[in-house]
Amino acid sequence: MPQTDVLIIGSGLAALSAAYYLKNKQVTVLTKSSWVESNSMLAQGGIAAAIGPNDSWQSHYQDTIEAGCFHNQENNVALLVQEGSREILDWVERGMTFDVDENGRLLLSKEGAHHHNRIVHAGGDATGREITQFLYKKVCEKAHIVEDEMAVDLLVDHNQCIGVVTKNKEGKLTTYTADYTIIASGGCGAVYGHTSNTHVITGDGIAMAYRAGAKLSDMEFIQFHPTMLYQNGKCIGLISEAVRGEGAVLKNQLGERFMKEIHELGDLAPRDIVSRAIFDEMKNGNSVYLDITKISQFENRFPTITKMCLDNGINLEKGWIPVAPGMHFLMGGIQTNEHGETNVPHLLAVGEAACTGVHGANRLASNSLLEGLVFGKRVAEFLSTKLTSSYSSYLKESLDQYRGVCNVELPTKEQIQDIMTNYVGILRTQSELEYAVKWFESYQKRNFWDFNVKDFTIEQIERLNMVTIGWIISMSALKRTESRGGHFRKDYPAQNNDFWKQRQVICCKDDIHVGV
Ligand code: SIN
Repeated sequence: MPQTDVLIIGSGLAALSAAYYLKNKQVTVLTKSSWVESNSMLAQGGIAAAIGPNDSWQSHYQDTIEAGCFHNQENNVALLVQEGSREILDWVERGMTFDVDENGRLLLSKEGAHHHNRIVHAGGDATGREITQFLYKKVCEKAHIVEDEMAVDLLVDHNQCIGVVTKNKEGKLTTYTADYTIIASGGCGAVYGHTSNTHVITGDGIAMAYRAGAKLSDMEFIQFHPTMLYQNGKCIGLISEAVRGEGAVLKNQLGERFMKEIHELGDLAPRDIVSRAIFDEMKNGNSVYLDITKISQFENRFPTITKMCLDNGINLEKGWIPVAPGMHFLMGGIQTNEHGETNVPHLLAVGEAACTGVHGANRLASNSLLEGLVFGKRVAEFLSTKLTSSYSSYLKESLDQYRGVCNVELPTKEQIQDIMTNYVGILRTQSELEYAVKWFESYQKRNFWDFNVKDFTIEQIERLNMVTIGWIISMSALKRTESRGGHFRKDYPAQNNDFWKQRQVICCKDDIHVGV
């Protein structure tokens, strides 16, 4: 039975940052696919850091909580923006190459809802790929990296997390015991049909933590990115907000710039506002485009986006890219404190899987890679001070008893995505949410307690996880009878101060409850 001091589930930037900073510990990184299959690798725009001459952490802090509709956990936001700037400069010192001007100064670009140019980027629009690869090379030297094994269930003994059971494509189960387990497996983009996330992001880490008794919070807050490349009714990939930061504007097919009248920041308003405006245009029968004609040398500044457009037959000479909003980021997740600790002893979470509250009800652009770096380091520094003893007493349950076959009734991924898109999407209503909750319950209640997930195939486990996450998002959205950030209720379109700072917390041992 493999044993390790610290087990990290996931291979994106938060996972790698934690692995890099863990000192004097044996570290195993587990990922269900190849290590490159993460949302961090797809992140385009960059990393927000208040390092420009007229910028300050206070301004970054203010922009973060305004975009988050004042739902943010303020202490953690202060940690994010203060430690974030230092972190970027440290990575530059370690040799990470961000884009610079002809004098070698870091280029800082602008994105929505930022009042300063503060986005560092790499490879033009390949920031996530560049920094994730850079960290991976460093982590490889010290951690054991296991690919193509899916974490299917946490091991909990005397209420303490002591590791995880994994399954590989051939159906082989393996038990990994660890003194500490960190979930860094990302959010749940694939529960929606239109998403910027990689298809493997089916909410596995969050659902698994829920089954183990971890508290989840803020699950109703879903960020839809306004501009995904849209063709033949499908969202194909992300068109970074940095494109608007460099001067692109949104227009409908008549050439009307509809954002001007909606928000003082126009095309660079917070993402929830821009996404709803585009959604409304489309509902009214209009098509929406990003007009990039004002950006000089677009292909040099945005090589990844240029390639994606050309691969999909978009004529960039004309300068109009068809766009639509798609699920991009989960603001909620496994509830953690500033060290990544959850309510389950020895279980931690970091990155999009976690909810530290830094993003509030709507994440500020380019704060997610920053969160991965800062909180990955915080978790690692916290654990580096702990004694480890390689837990090995978990031998109570033999894995041989699982046959790996189970005729469980679960919906297809497409059915789940249709329900989430049509009933729990950008605009929500009581009746639609009630329908979604009932639909998910018909599977969740039946299957959740009666079977053991270790008997499911990987594909079945993903679908069960998607059902669990869909059900929790729908329930949380139904209970929040106001609109705030990434949660918009047509029947309650205004913010309600009674909900201000109220976090909806859900735990399998409890019903949903509201806490601060
Ligand atoms: C983008 O490049 O627009 C995405 C970056 C982010 O989500 O912060």
